Amino acid sequence: MGIVISIANQKGGVGKTTTAINLASSLSYVDKRVLLIDLDYQANATTCLGINRGSFEYSVFDCLANDVAIEKAILHTDSPLIDVLPARTMVEGIEEKIITNTNRDFILHTKLKDIKDHFDYVLIDCPPSLGFVTINAMVASDGIIIPVQCEFLAMDGLTQLLNIIRMVQGKKKVNMETLTVFGVLLTMLDTRSNAGYQVINEVKTYFGEKVFQTIIPRNVSCSNATFYGVPVTEFSPKSKSSLSYRQLAKEVIMRHDET
Ligand SMILES: Nc1ncnc2c1ncn2[C@@H]1O[C@H](COP(=O)(O)OP(=O)(O)OP(=O)(O)O)[C@@H](O)[C@H]1O
Ligand SMILES: [Mg+2]
Repeated sequence: MGIVISIANQKGGVGKTTTAINLASSLSYVDKRVLLIDLDYQANATTCLGINRGSFEYSVFDCLANDVAIEKAILHTDSPLIDVLPARTMVEGIEEKIITNTNRDFILHTKLKDIKDHFDYVLIDCPPSLGFVTINAMVASDGIIIPVQCEFLAMDGLTQLLNIIRMVQGKKKVNMETLTVFGVLLTMLDTRSNAGYQVINEVKTYFGEKVFQTIIPRNVSCSNATFYGVPVTEFSPKSKSSLSYRQLAKEVIMRHDET
């Protein structure tokens, strides 16, 4: 059965998209079929999977706002095991369009139902906000991965994020469904400074076992890969960040198998 995992944190630049594309790539290396849903108007994940923004007809936002079937919008990527539901930049007015839909928080959930079992993992790259789009992602998900950057004020905003998760858990309970914090991922650790290790302690004290053992180091290959628009697992397979993402994929599979 396919599992749907949102990668969410309303804080910008914490490594959501980097995690989404590299986890997708690393899962595909161990023969898992992955659908990556790019729910961010910036469309970074779409680009990083080699999809030219002008090359497709429908984006995920057409599925949410214009009732386009999800199958019509899914694209194959260079990797035979990874499909993508792409985003498009500059979509205006989607929230106004959908605000009148009484079932608006469940649109993605309903649309994913029929196709999620075609995949082992459906990963959703969320935008840096807690608006309607992120709530749709959470309602459609079984679990959430929260990337937390190992930097000053890392925990800022997490209470608000956890409150939204609790609110969505309540919505899903009505349908006898659950939403878990699948894991908290520490990202961009600068191993040369003490500050990062303080954040690790703080986050582990708060989230305990939920924190993945894998910690993603800050690594120049990772930012270079973003610059060239490819996953670091392909750009520099032997780099520290690439190896950590492959380790993370193993941990994700283990956690999923345990549930
Ligand atoms: N481990 C890492 N080492 C070095 N740079 C990194 C690492 N992870 C991410 N980055 C860089 O940090 C920046 C932000 O990462 P990313 O886009 O993944 O964050 P995000 O949470 O998706 O941001 P947004 O909130 O804008 O969607 C990018 O330029 C990316 O290349
Ligand atoms: Mg992003």
